[in-house]
Amino acid sequence: MKVQFLAAPPASAPRLVAHIVDQDSLPKSLDPVLAEGARASRFAGKAGQVFDGFIAHDGRIIRVALAGAGEKDAKDRTAALERAGAALTARFLTSGETALTLVLDGSGLSAEELAAVLLGARLRGWRYDAYRTKLSDEQKASLQRIDVVGAPKGSEAVWSREAALADGIEFTRELVTEPANIIYPETFVERCEKRMVGMGIELTVLDEEQMRDLGMGALLGVAQGSAKPPRLLALTWNGGEDGARPVAFVGKGVTFDSGGISIKPAAGMEDMKWDMGGAAAVAGAMLALAGRKAKANLVGVCGLVENMPDANAQRPGDVVTSMSGQTIEVINTDAEGRLVLCDALTWVQREHNPATVVDLATLTGAMIVALGHEHGGVFANDDALAEKLVAAGLATGDKLWRLPLASAYDKLIDSPIADMKNVGPRPAGSITAAQFLQRFIDKGTAWAHCDIAGMVWADKPGTTWDKGATGYGVRLIDRFVRDTCEA
Ligand code: BES
Ligand code: MN
Ligand code: ZN
Repeated sequence: MKVQFLAAPPASAPRLVAHIVDQDSLPKSLDPVLAEGARASRFAGKAGQVFDGFIAHDGRIIRVALAGAGEKDAKDRTAALERAGAALTARFLTSGETALTLVLDGSGLSAEELAAVLLGARLRGWRYDAYRTKLSDEQKASLQRIDVVGAPKGSEAVWSREAALADGIEFTRELVTEPANIIYPETFVERCEKRMVGMGIELTVLDEEQMRDLGMGALLGVAQGSAKPPRLLALTWNGGEDGARPVAFVGKGVTFDSGGISIKPAAGMEDMKWDMGGAAAVAGAMLALAGRKAKANLVGVCGLVENMPDANAQRPGDVVTSMSGQTIEVINTDAEGRLVLCDALTWVQREHNPATVVDLATLTGAMIVALGHEHGGVFANDDALAEKLVAAGLATGDKLWRLPLASAYDKLIDSPIADMKNVGPRPAGSITAAQFLQRFIDKGTAWAHCDIAGMVWADKPGTTWDKGATGYGVRLIDRFVRDTCEA
């Protein structure tokens, strides 16, 4: 979806015109037929409501849409405006209309409010039809463009920041949507290289041999059952003060999780193509942050492997040595995400000396049992960090809920043969997974772990996404950086 700003309405009267309408305040200048139509359809301007009708104007038929933005002084005004924009693109995406002219005269929207409308519109208007070769004309997306007329001063600059965010979210969704025969460690890296070229992001790629030299036995143990070689991808952006310690984001990038020898049941296994949603969120966030030239030093790390059960796969009971030197008894090869992350966490701490580390991972099914699809879980060794992440989630809709860490949980992963085992007993499965990761965090490093297993993929449409990849995590990271590193 392209967004462009026009100084005046296009010379040839547009076919589809849209207005943003606050609750119970139809514009006085609205054509009386439309106003009556809206009232008769019980359009009240509630957030997300859309009415559309037709009027004759200068001998042409024009389609006019009204999108409700809710009450003007609502606490969640920004979210309501996103909803209004999203409702417009949801309604007209496959309508046959190719452009929508958003007319703002008299709407009273600020540049920031307009950007919220446009962000909602762009996010809800995204879809990926690369593999759908038989769509009928009515099924194809028709809406290509939003023309904004009468935007307040400064709107284009504000929108260019939000547009970078939309770029990042769309990139994350694309990576998550692609099947595992298309996106695997090497092609994940290639997509990032292609998309990020010329943006000032430095890409560092470690191959199998380099990881072996570094002693990443935990990550490599997961990868050894797959024909696809693993990669560690680091994306660095230095937009902050010279020499200031960076903030690191680390993503689980299991491009397919069959479970390995502890193989998963067949039903629903196809979902495990999106077990790289954490890494995709990190990559999308780095794209967004570089796109808006964030004033912060940041590093994004993607631990990329495929978890497969071939003849060379690791076995339950194998003991591997991580880069940190700590040994791990692999009880269950399906608890592979933590094995990938632990080496990625050690690497980023040694290589970049970050003050803060935040990891994102589709780590446990237990997280979905606990929080469903409404919140990701966050675990942290630092209260201030947890609070900032929760606040960033609330502000953007990428919501998080904090869960505990404690030594009583940590004991549950002690092993009789190695320093630890990779699974605990069934209870508190998300917490023991977090305890496992914490064993790889250096003293003095503020760390948070976000278990986003329930958030990456949606079985039904949400306000700013269709069913499928949500792009969760990009806005969370962007907002966290904006409010805590750039402030
Ligand atoms: N990738 C899965 C977790 C997952 C499950 C994410 C469902 C999204 C939806 C992870 O690698 C996994 O298999 N975890 C196991 C851990 C268990 C073996 C301790 C799980 O949750 O069952
Ligand atoms: Mn698994
Ligand atoms: Zn997994």
